[in-house]
Amino acid sequence: MPLPSTLNPWLEKGIPLDKQIRDWKQIALPPYDKREVDAYTRARVILMNGIENELWAYSHSFHRMTDNRELQALLARTRRVEDQQQTTINGLNPADQTVLETTIGFEQVAVDLTAYLARHEPDPYLREALHFGLLEDFDHLYRYSELLDYLEGTDPNAIVQGKTDIIPGRPTLDHHNSPEIRLLKHYEKNRALPLSKIHVWTLLSAEQQTHNYYGEHGWEYADPRARALYAEIGEVEEEHVTFYGSLVDPSETLLERQVLHELMEVYNYFHCYEQETDPRLKGVWEEFLHMELTHAQLWGEMLRKYEGRDPEVVFGDRLTVEFRFQENKEYVRHVLDEQADLRELGSTWTVKDQLPDSWPSYAYQDRVNREGNPSEEIVDVQDQTHDGRLEHPGDELLLRARRMAVQFRETATERGGRGGR
Ligand SMILES: [Fe+2]
Ligand SMILES: [Fe+2]
Ligand SMILES: [Fe+2]
Ligand SMILES: [Fe+2]
Repeated sequence: MPLPSTLNPWLEKGIPLDKQIRDWKQIALPPYDKREVDAYTRARVILMNGIENELWAYSHSFHRMTDNRELQALLARTRRVEDQQQTTINGLNPADQTVLETTIGFEQVAVDLTAYLARHEPDPYLREALHFGLLEDFDHLYRYSELLDYLEGTDPNAIVQGKTDIIPGRPTLDHHNSPEIRLLKHYEKNRALPLSKIHVWTLLSAEQQTHNYYGEHGWEYADPRARALYAEIGEVEEEHVTFYGSLVDPSETLLERQVLHELMEVYNYFHCYEQETDPRLKGVWEEFLHMELTHAQLWGEMLRKYEGRDPEVVFGDRLTVEFRFQENKEYVRHVLDEQADLRELGSTWTVKDQLPDSWPSYAYQDRVNREGNPSEEIVDVQDQTHDGRLEHPGDELLLRARRMAVQFRETATERGGRGGR
């Protein structure tokens, strides 16, 4: 295991804010080559695009809720930089990478990000929340992989490059819940470690971007099965945004949260920079890391000025960055063995056989799955199309996964678990 890297975010030298604006050519860089790119380089692009979009959105919300001209001005200035960063990062994706290929990348990010963060999350409750979400995105990766094979004849394993398993998790059919069922207990801002807060905000940003991506791009497929699958999984991502969003302490002040957002960017650019294998992108991560150090310090000053609180005291003076995109196959399999049967019950979990008859998600599932279920139907269609034949790379892997999916279906909440109701 690599040694963690530690820095003092309040003292490291950054790039002065007035030197952070770049010209159009610096903003619109040439994209990576999808045939050459490392799966985790693509993952970093997807993650950091999501984080920059969260910074942009949060900055606007903050602006609309404060009457302080100095804060509004600094928000406008840092937000312009965040926006340029977002455009640069998203522009690294090549035009020939299809929406579905990018989608496989999003779910790979969700799996390997959540798994790693869960392994290193100090708070046991937060860790369980992460495990729960993990098994759902893990299943999405499989369902979209079937769709990729069905529509584009592409081997999903060529995209994840063997680093992430493509097999069913907790079946997507069972991810649909009555909205309030997704509300968890939030961390306590004075008790939670800064690292836990960074974990939660990182995941929240990633899930939000995933939700927005599916909502914005699902329509680009003419095939009704594709549109329906994007509708179904996109809604689960909305559940995930609600789920992770309910973990943050609502009593954090707007300013405190702004500092936390910048710290989250420092954390994430730091691991991108440290682990990037593409030298050109490594340069981008390094430059953006130094922009974020300045943002964190400027916002830390505002916290000191307007709330009389030192950022070093609120968030600590040492930031240890140990995250890395890496294989988590064994870990995920272990969580899958232990927790596939868990279902959500307010701010806690229970095994599906113990669900009360009055579990509100039963009625919700009856409603949305009334006319069938896209994530199950794609499995049936693929089963009929391939009929056990192995025609091109990836078929064998998907055939095995499909058999598991049919087996899991027998015990889905919607069916087997409800006999005694
Ligand atoms: Fe940023
Ligand atoms: Fe997902
Ligand atoms: Fe998700
Ligand atoms: Fe920033």
